Amino acid sequence: MADAGVCSRRQAKRMVANGKVTVNGKVADVGGLHIDPKNDDIKVNGELIEYDGGKVYLMLNKLPGYLTTTSDPYDRDIVMDLISTKRKRVYPVGRLDMDTEGLLIFTNDGALSYRLTHPKHHVNKVYLAWVKGKPDEKKLNNLRKGIKLKDGITLPAQVERLEDKKSDDNTSLIKLTIYEGRKRQIKRMFSAIGHKVLRLRRIQMGPISLGKLPPGEFRHLTKQEVKLLKKSTGDKNEE
Ligand code: URA
Repeated sequence: MADAGVCSRRQAKRMVANGKVTVNGKVADVGGLHIDPKNDDIKVNGELIEYDGGKVYLMLNKLPGYLTTTSDPYDRDIVMDLISTKRKRVYPVGRLDMDTEGLLIFTNDGALSYRLTHPKHHVNKVYLAWVKGKPDEKKLNNLRKGIKLKDGITLPAQVERLEDKKSDDNTSLIKLTIYEGRKRQIKRMFSAIGHKVLRLRRIQMGPISLGKLPPGEFRHLTKQEVKLLKKSTGDKNEE
C-alpha cells in the first residue's frame, strides 16, 4: 500500500489492523499477510489499489454523445469526463465514434494499448448494431465473407441476427464480431449493404466483456482480466 502511494507504512498497518483492507475479497489479516501485488486484488475501504508497476487498466461503459479524446478545444463532452483515477493518467485504447456507446478500455500501459490496436493482432471486437430495415441473409453473408469498402475488403466477420422485442418492424438487431478496427467500420459495412446503423454498442474487446456495467460508469479491470487481455495479444510475459 505504501509502495502504491496510498499511505505511509504505519498507516497501512493500522488500516489492516482495523479491517479496512481486503485481499481478493477477504479482510486482510495482520498476522500472515502474504500478497502478490501483480495477481491479488487489494482494496482499501472498498477501493481497488492501482498498483501493477504503476499500470492502470479501466473499462468504461461509454455513453453516446461523448468524444473519444483526452481533451477538446471546444469543451465538448469527452470520455475522460466519465472516468477518474487517483494518481495516474490513462488513455483510451482505440476509439468509439461520438454516437457509439459501450465498452472502452483505458490504460497507461502504452505497450498493451499498441498491441491491442495494432491490425496484425486481429483482436476481436463484438458490437450490437440496431439497423434500419431488415437485411436479408444474402446481405448478411456479404458481411460475413468480407465486403468492399473504399479502404479495401473487410476481413470475414461473424454476423448473427438477434431477436429484439424493443425493435419495431422496421429495425433489426445484429451482433457482429470484427477482427480489425477501421474508422467507422461497422457503419460503413452496413452502408455498403444499404442499411443505416441507428444505434451501435460495443460489448466485447478480446477477452473483456462489458457485462452489467451500467451506462456511464467505469471500473478497474481485475488482475485476471488484465492477464487475459495481455495474453490475447500474444504477450508471453503477461507482466
Ligand atoms: N464501427 C463504427 O462504425 N463506429 C464505432 O464507433 C466503432 C466501430
